[in-house]
Amino acid sequence: MAKTRPNEPCPCGSGKKYKKCCAKAPILKNKHFGYRKKDNIKNEKDIIGMRTACSFNAQLMRYIRPHIQAGISTEEINTLVHDYTLAHGHIPAPLNYHGFPKSVCTSLNHVVCHGIPCKEDILKNGDIINVDVTTIVDGYHGDQSETFYVGTDISDDAKLVTETSRRSLEIGIENVKPGRKLIDVCGAIEDFVLGEGCSVVRDFTGHGIGLKFHEEPQVPHYRTASIRNVVLQPGMTFTIEPMVNIGDWRIKILEDKWTAVTADGSLSAQFEHTLLVTEDGVEVLTATE
Ligand code: MF3
Ligand code: CO
Ligand code: CO
Repeated sequence: MAKTRPNEPCPCGSGKKYKKCCAKAPILKNKHFGYRKKDNIKNEKDIIGMRTACSFNAQLMRYIRPHIQAGISTEEINTLVHDYTLAHGHIPAPLNYHGFPKSVCTSLNHVVCHGIPCKEDILKNGDIINVDVTTIVDGYHGDQSETFYVGTDISDDAKLVTETSRRSLEIGIENVKPGRKLIDVCGAIEDFVLGEGCSVVRDFTGHGIGLKFHEEPQVPHYRTASIRNVVLQPGMTFTIEPMVNIGDWRIKILEDKWTAVTADGSLSAQFEHTLLVTEDGVEVLTATE
C-alpha cells in the first residue's frame, strides 16, 4: 500500500496530520476505524500473498473465458480449470472444500451458486452460466466469478438479471473506502438491484478472504443488523459477489447438498471480485483486462 507522508492528512479522516494521528499511534488508528480483531486486517506479507494469489486467479479466469461456448459440458470446464491450476503448481480451492466434489462451481440459468460440474450439463445457445474460480497460491486465496452469455439467443430476462448483477458489483466496489461502514456498501448494492426490479439472494454472502477461503467479515448484499459495527479499514481483504434473481430471492438446496437454485425457478446471475481496502480506496485484486 502507498505510504502516507507525515504532513499529509491522516487517511483515517480525523482531519489531523498523519504524523499527529495514526502514524504515532496504531492503536488509535484502530479506534478511528472501529477495529475488530476478527475483521482479519492483513499485514504487508499477507497483502503480497493475496496479490499473487488473486493475480493467478484472474489469469485462470482469462484462460477459461473463451471456452465458455455452446457444446462444452460443465465437466469439461472443470477439467480445464483443474488442469490449468495444477500445471501452474497451485491448488483449486473448491476441490474437497467441506466435501465439494469438483474444482470449480458452474451455475446454469436458475442455479444461484455452487453448481457441481457434470457430463450431463452441456451449454446451449441462450443459457447463462456463472463460472466461479478460486485458487490457493502459497496458502492465500483468490476468488472471483463471472456470468457468461452462451451464444446470441439471450432472453431479455437473462440480460436484465446478468447486467444488474454485473453493475451491482461495480457499485459495491465504487463504494469501498477506508472509514466507510460496510452496511452502506451493502445497502448501495441492495438499492440498485431492487431498483432494477430484481431481488437479492439472502442465504449467501461475500466474505473476508486470506489464508482461509471464507473468513470474517460476512459481506451480505443487503442491509442487515449483523454488520452494523463493521467499518472498512486499510488491509481488509474481502469479496463482493451479489447473487441476483429475476424473480423471488428465495432459494432451495438440491439433494446433492450443494446446488442452490431459485425456489421459483427464475433466472439468477452473479459476479465476484476479491478486493483490498487501501489507504485511499480499493484495489480490485482479481481484476482482468
Ligand atoms: N467460490 C464460492 C464463493 O465465492 C464458494 C464455493 S465453495 C465450494 O464463496 F465449496 F462450493 F466450492
Ligand atoms: Co467468494
Ligand atoms: Co467465488
